[in-house]
Amino acid sequence: MTLLHRCDGVATFTFMRVDPANISSRDFYRHMVACITPRPIAWVSTISPGGIPNLAPFSFFNGVGANPPSVVFCPVNRRDGARKDTLLNIQAIRQFAVNVVPHRLAAEMNETSAELGYEVSEFQHVGLTAAPCERIAPPRVAQAPVCMECELHSITSVGDGPLSGHVVIGRILLLHADDSVLDSQGQIDPGKLDTIGRMGGSLYTRTRDRFEMPRPGFSTIAQPPQ
Ligand SMILES: Cc1cc2nc3c(=O)[nH]c(=O)nc-3n(C[C@H](O)[C@H](O)[C@H](O)COP(=O)(O)O)c2cc1C
Repeated sequence: MTLLHRCDGVATFTFMRVDPANISSRDFYRHMVACITPRPIAWVSTISPGGIPNLAPFSFFNGVGANPPSVVFCPVNRRDGARKDTLLNIQAIRQFAVNVVPHRLAAEMNETSAELGYEVSEFQHVGLTAAPCERIAPPRVAQAPVCMECELHSITSVGDGPLSGHVVIGRILLLHADDSVLDSQGQIDPGKLDTIGRMGGSLYTRTRDRFEMPRPGFSTIAQPPQ
């Protein structure tokens, strides 16, 4: 890490430059999660070939596109280089569900990030109900208001060894949303959904502080990107 001083003619300020070649992956990860914020959370449920349900949160998560509807999330190898149970299950079964995390389920979500043995189900460990999905074998979280049932599109591994990531892309086969989070038009209401986002370390944010800013030439109704 280098600290540099820069003068823009009005004020002198200091900034840092971080070359990943000069620090550990773990330290660089800290910088990434502190500035890639807030991150949405995919609460991913899978099932092992032996039929054991698994559940874990992933905040390296986003949408990919809508034709076909698809999502992406990234399980990162453990510090000992081992692949996470979620990835092992998806490689074997090629299906997963993304459950959405409202504020009321924050503690349970966090509990499911515990590193349990492969043969232990986080559903049982935390006391969540595993409800059957309609199109895929893995169960969904019955308490979660929204679930996307996905089939695997592709896995791209970026590097290997400790903290290297795997880009998992899934095609959404079915989305279900509880009536309680819908508005009068049948759209998912962000206020009712009350999702949380992840900041750095153990810090989270709520999504209650919103502001509106229509894009130039667009109406205020949510539009797909152009
Ligand atoms: C809010 C939150 C977000 C997380 N995001 C990620 C992530 O994007 N990638 C990752 O590899 N681990 C992430 N983790 C850690 C995993 O949830 C954790 O390693 C978990 O034990 C993996 O479970 P599994 O081995 O059953 O797949 C996150 C943890 C929390 C609490």
